[in-house]
Amino acid sequence: MTELSRPQEDGPPSVEEIELRLFIDAIRHRYEYDFRDYSMSSLRRRLTQACEHFDCRSFSMLQDKILHGPEHLEELLSFLTVQVSEMFRDPIYYKALREEVVPHLRTYPSLKVWVAGVATGEELYSLSILFREEGLGDRTIFYATDINPSALQKAQRGVFSLDRMQEYTRNYQASGGKASLSDYYASGYDRAIFDKGLRQNVVFSDHSLVTDSVFAEMQLISCRNVLIYFNGELQDRATKLFYDSLCPRGFLGLGSRETLRFSQQADMFKEVNPQARLYQKL
Ligand SMILES: C[S@@+](CC[C@H](N)C(=O)[O-])C[C@H]1O[C@@H](n2cnc3c(N)ncnc32)[C@H](O)[C@@H]1O
Repeated sequence: MTELSRPQEDGPPSVEEIELRLFIDAIRHRYEYDFRDYSMSSLRRRLTQACEHFDCRSFSMLQDKILHGPEHLEELLSFLTVQVSEMFRDPIYYKALREEVVPHLRTYPSLKVWVAGVATGEELYSLSILFREEGLGDRTIFYATDINPSALQKAQRGVFSLDRMQEYTRNYQASGGKASLSDYYASGYDRAIFDKGLRQNVVFSDHSLVTDSVFAEMQLISCRNVLIYFNGELQDRATKLFYDSLCPRGFLGLGSRETLRFSQQADMFKEVNPQARLYQKL
């Protein structure tokens, strides 16, 4: 049951609630993007910003604009999805990967790693650097997936703002980085252009955790800061998909505010490092 279809405690749904539900249905029917089981409070906030941006007074006006103007869809998606990311975000995650997961990964002759909800690519480049430093780069294929096409294009370019490199360098060092982050990019004006070798073994693809299914057997899935935007039911669907996509004893990494503890799959994984949110399929 979606949050919106639950009976309202204070009487019938407001006009805005009804419009929001109709809007979500319209997007699903017209473009096959399914936001029904996303966290409604955050979705409502972001759609309100979209209304301001598109100069629409209501969700109904926005619906009309998007239904009749497919050219606005990509822009709308930048409101409906959150692209905030960071290289070596939560360094403890990457440190635990190096120390506790990489030794297991070394035992495989070839590796598949899925970065689900890759956004603009910061997490992917961080993992690619880590795998290269650990001597696993050449035997790994990364699958970098998202539902936002413009974010995926940006991830494919591997160009980030130079302003953020100091912060990323600190993260990289705290994560146990073995070289200097600047070894991996060239600076040009205000941009850091990352070594294209880092995406040599990367398949970028559109894939939705809501509507799509298993596409390969992975040794590691890193899906960070995506499940927080889903309700409990959808989180269960996604974790089931991760379970089915992992090889026996494969690893799953989540974001610092995400956990498997309350999910239906909790018993099917063991906690490798609870603080780093790293799990292993049993
Ligand atoms: C906050 S970003 C996370 C970026 C990165 N993983 C990190 O932790 O820095 C969330 C990403 O999830 C993507 N996303 C949202 N719904 C999705 C879905 N159903 N399937 C796949 N990706 C989705 C969004 O487009 C967005 O790029």
